[in-house]
Amino acid sequence: MRILLCTGLLLSLFSVGAPLQCMTCLYLYNNTCLMRQARKCSEDTCREVALQSNIFAEDNLSLTYSDCANTQDCIPGTFSISGGTPRFFRMQAECCNTDVCNENPIQLQPESFGPLQCPFCFTKNANDCVVIDTHNCPIGETKCITFAGFMQQAGTSQVWAAFKGCATPDFCNFITTLPTGVRRRLNVLLRFNVTQATCVDAQPSSYTSGL
Ligand SMILES: *[C@@H]1O[C@H](CO)[C@@H](O)[C@H](O)[C@H]1NC(C)=O
Ligand SMILES: *[C@@H]1O[C@H](CO)[C@@H](O)[C@H](O)[C@H]1NC(C)=O
Ligand SMILES: *[C@@H]1O[C@H](CO)[C@@H](O)[C@H](O)[C@H]1NC(C)=O
Repeated sequence: MRILLCTGLLLSLFSVGAPLQCMTCLYLYNNTCLMRQARKCSEDTCREVALQSNIFAEDNLSLTYSDCANTQDCIPGTFSISGGTPRFFRMQAECCNTDVCNENPIQLQPESFGPLQCPFCFTKNANDCVVIDTHNCPIGETKCITFAGFMQQAGTSQVWAAFKGCATPDFCNFITTLPTGVRRRLNVLLRFNVTQATCVDAQPSSYTSGL
């Protein structure tokens, strides 16, 4: 009984009294989080994001980002698409709601490739691309994606492209449920405006029919 009372009191203290504190990047300069520090938020969620990409810009970008977010803007999961060269991007995001719960930057694990394969192509400024090759997918990318639309990475200009390759189920769930022709952010660092996005299950390399 006493424990219950205390818990109730604590909960109300936290929800009414003190704003949530999150680790935040005060400045993102040259793709580096400068001045990572705890800050009081007006939002209700702490977000931690790691991103590696080499498609939107020509360079090989790798960064981690921390901030406060509204629940609906923090989309947890493993989002990645790839296919030969260029490899596109990998994003991992976590959302939590206790003080400074996003303290530890996410470390993206090195990739290894499994038996699943997808047809691959990439063409800028086009709504469609012609399959040039088939590639083994990184483990975890169990879907084959067909995408066309605008993609943008924080700090770079948007790219209009058609792409086929491997994707994670989290990315497929995100991208195939977006309304077409509307610009939407994925955890601040990426933005999409979809013309077409479909995903099917990737098949092992012995599977040849349908390619
Ligand atoms: C930006 O970052 C890259 C890679 O970390 C580094 O080589 C370069 O010197 C930096 N540029 C500036 C202006 O700080
Ligand atoms: C890009 O950066 C990642 C992580 O820093 C590294 O593992 C990878 O080998 C780099 N790729 C290229 C093509 O430089
Ligand atoms: C999204 O792309 C469509 C074309 O596919 C364009 O008409 C529309 O203006 C874009 N929306 C935004 C917000 O950029």
